Amino acid sequence: MLKQRKDLLGLKDLSKEEIIHIINTAKEMKAVLGQDFKKTNHLQGKTVVSLFYENSTRTRLSFELAAKYMGANAANISASGSSIQKGETVIDTARTIDAMATDILIMRTNMSGAPHLIAPHVKASVINAGDGMNEHPTQALLDLYTMIEKRGDVSGFKVAIIGDVAHSRVARSNIYGLTKLGAKVYVAGPSTLMPYGIESLGATKCGSVGEAVADADVVMGLRLQLERQKRGLFPTIREYCNFFGIDDDCLKLAKKDALLMHPGPVNRGYELTSSVIDGKQSVIDEQVTNGVAIRMAIMYWLSQGGVI
Ligand code: CP
Repeated sequence: MLKQRKDLLGLKDLSKEEIIHIINTAKEMKAVLGQDFKKTNHLQGKTVVSLFYENSTRTRLSFELAAKYMGANAANISASGSSIQKGETVIDTARTIDAMATDILIMRTNMSGAPHLIAPHVKASVINAGDGMNEHPTQALLDLYTMIEKRGDVSGFKVAIIGDVAHSRVARSNIYGLTKLGAKVYVAGPSTLMPYGIESLGATKCGSVGEAVADADVVMGLRLQLERQKRGLFPTIREYCNFFGIDDDCLKLAKKDALLMHPGPVNRGYELTSSVIDGKQSVIDEQVTNGVAIRMAIMYWLSQGGVI
């Protein structure tokens, strides 16, 4: 089969048309999730392997369920308990999985660029399930899908992304995707957690959370990566919450019907208060549901040669 796109490595190199195609396909896939009998034959006979070097609940399980709903053979392998612990290189590990007639290889890793590194060495389609501080394209696609499902379109939207932007692959992929679809992205966070040159990606850097959130259509909190505190990148958790935590008063600055989003896992009471997490503007649970639909759409699209 002639493949227009073999792999999904990031939103940086995905076109607007490809993003829209995946989102439209996910709409059809979501209907399957509402059925009593959740089974299609879109990936019948195909083999999907998840290779996770980092912990995950949402991404790993949603890929596995998505593969099974579409009739694929699905298997998982994690770094602990595998030959990665014996010193096998990432390319050799990928080639080993490929040699077992794998059609789709899903990879999560703390090594930025590792999915890009293995992709040319394997016949399988490689899907980046989050690589270091680089990208988390399937998360951004499910975020875009959720916004479009709720509001119809994101063109002209103001989207505020708040928190540790520097270490966030979710923020980076969302900036690429949102700007391609015509939204405006405003970012705010501690200056030590704001990457140099973020404006070159198309985002506007704000001096305060209030400035970013003011009149926003979407407010997206990022996970407070508590491990960073040990490195002195922000003074205390209490101070972080005071300045960068999203609570009811903060959310009131946004549009009345603004969506509250978070990729998860949430540190309840830190980057978001329980009141906003469980409030009526929160679409966090819907993001999780849509994650299954979007991953079904991505795997089906790649299995068909990535053609639009
Ligand atoms: N959003 C996300 O990637 O969550 P997991 O780490 O649970 O997969």
